[in-house]
Amino acid sequence: MFVALEGIDGSGKTTVSSRLREKLESDGIKVFLTHEPTFSVDSIAGKLVSQRDAESALKLFFMFTEDRYRHQAEISEKLDQGYLVLCDRYIYSSFAYQGSLLEGIFGTPERVVTWMSGVSEIIKIRPDLNVYLDISADTAIKRIWNRRNITGFEDLQYLDRVRSYYTGVLRKHLVIMNGEDSIERIVDAIYRIIRQ
Ligand code: ADP
Ligand code: TYD
Repeated sequence: MFVALEGIDGSGKTTVSSRLREKLESDGIKVFLTHEPTFSVDSIAGKLVSQRDAESALKLFFMFTEDRYRHQAEISEKLDQGYLVLCDRYIYSSFAYQGSLLEGIFGTPERVVTWMSGVSEIIKIRPDLNVYLDISADTAIKRIWNRRNITGFEDLQYLDRVRSYYTGVLRKHLVIMNGEDSIERIVDAIYRIIRQ
C-alpha cells in the first residue's frame, strides 16, 4: 500500500508520519517512510520557492516532477518488497504549491490542474490513499514562525492560496482530516483507514 500525506507547511506531516510508522511497525508491518522533495530546497530551489511568480513556479514544477519521476522507481521497488510506503508530500503538493502560482497563465484552477495532470502522466506510481491535513494559514505561521525565513503577510497569503487548492479543485482526490485536531486523534484516524 502506498499512502501520501499532504498539507501546507506545519500541518503535521512529519509528526504524523513518524507516529504512524511506529504504530504500524508495532503491528509487524514493514514501513518505508520517505519524503518529497528528495533534494534539499536550500540551494537553487530555495530561491525559486521564495519568488512566487509564474516563471519560477514553472521551473519548480518541472524540478519536482523530475524528482518524483526518479523517486517513483524507489517507491515501486519498496512496494514490490512488501513495504507499506508512507510519503510526506507527493503529486498534489506540486499541484497546490505551483498550481496556485500558474493560474494567471491558465485562467482557472481546473485548467491549471488539467495541464499539470497531463505533464504528470509520467508519474505511474500513484498513492492508494492521499491524506490531507487541513490547517489554516494562521495556524501554519504560528507553528513554523521559527523554522525559516517567513516574510510575514505574503507567506500567510500564499499558504492560504495553496490551502484553497487542496480544499477546492483537489479535494475530490483527498481524504481530508482536521489537522488542528490532536496528533493522537489524527494518527488514530489514518491508522484505522489504512488497517481497513
Ligand atoms: P510538517 O511536516 O507538515 O511541516 P510538522 O510535523 O513538522 O509539520 O509540525 C510542525 C509543528 O507543529 C511541530 O512543532 C509539531 O510538533 C506541531 N504539530 C504538528 N501537528 C500538530 C497538532 N495536531 N497539534 C498541535 N501541534 C502540532
Ligand atoms: P518540506 O521539506 O516537506 O517542508 P515542510 O516539512 O515544511 O512541509 O517541503 C519543502 C517545501 O517545498 C515546502 O514549502 C513545499 C515545497 N514543495 C512544493 O512547492 N512543491 C512540491 O511538489 C513539493 C514536493 C514541495
